[in-house]
Amino acid sequence: MKEKVAQEIARRVKDGDVIGVGTGTTVDAALTEIGKRVQQEGLRLTVVPTSLQSAWRCQELGLTVLYQAFNGHLSWGFDGADQVTKERWAIKGKGGAMLQEKILAKRCKKFIIIVDDTKVVSQLGAGCPVPVEVIPEARILAEEGLRALGATSLEIRSGSGKHGPVITEAGNIIIDAAFPAIRENLERDIKGIVGVVDSGLFIGYASEVIVASASGVSSL
Ligand code: 5RP
Repeated sequence: MKEKVAQEIARRVKDGDVIGVGTGTTVDAALTEIGKRVQQEGLRLTVVPTSLQSAWRCQELGLTVLYQAFNGHLSWGFDGADQVTKERWAIKGKGGAMLQEKILAKRCKKFIIIVDDTKVVSQLGAGCPVPVEVIPEARILAEEGLRALGATSLEIRSGSGKHGPVITEAGNIIIDAAFPAIRENLERDIKGIVGVVDSGLFIGYASEVIVASASGVSSL
C-alpha cells in the first residue's frame, strides 16, 4: 500500500521543484521512489525536511537539502498521518515530528497527506491519542489544561534506548492525550494552554489526501 502512494507522489515531482518533506515510513517509501526518478532522469530537486531522519534520507538519495531556517514558501510538500477523515482533518505525530510538520504544512502552497486506507476514519481520536508538544517546565499546566478540555488519559511519551521522556528536536516533551471526540476548535484550545507549543491535530491543513487501498489510489 505504501508503495502505491509513494509512486503517486514520485509521479508528481518535476525537475527544479522545491518540496517540503514530512517524516515517517510512508514518507520514506515516497523518498525511495523519488530517489529512483532522480537516478534515472537526473532530476534536480531541493527539499526542506521536517526531521533529522528525513534530512539524512534525502541527502543519501542525492537531493539538495535546505534547513528549515530557509526563509521562503514552498510550492508543495507531502507527509504521512496517523489518522485522517474525509474532511482532511488529521492526527499526526506518532513519530514526534509534528511541530516541524505543522510549520511545513503552513509554508507549502499545497500540502498533501499520503496514507493507506486503514488510516481513514469517520471520527478522529478513536484509538489514536493527540500528541501534544510541551515545554518541560509546563508539564503540570499542560496536564491540567488538557484534562479540562476533556482528555480522558494522558501519557508522557517515553523512548526506547533511553530512560525518561522522548525529547523533540525543539527540546520539548510529548504528552499523548486521548480525547473521546475531536471537535473543530480543539486544536486552537490545546494551543491556548500555557506551555503547549503545538499539537498533532491538523485541522484544515491538507489540500489533498492521497489514499492507497487494495483497489488502487484515490484522492480526497
Ligand atoms: C511523524 C508523523 C508521521 O507522518 C505519522 O506518524 C505517520 O507515520 P507512518 O507513515 O510511519 O505511519 O506524523 O510525526
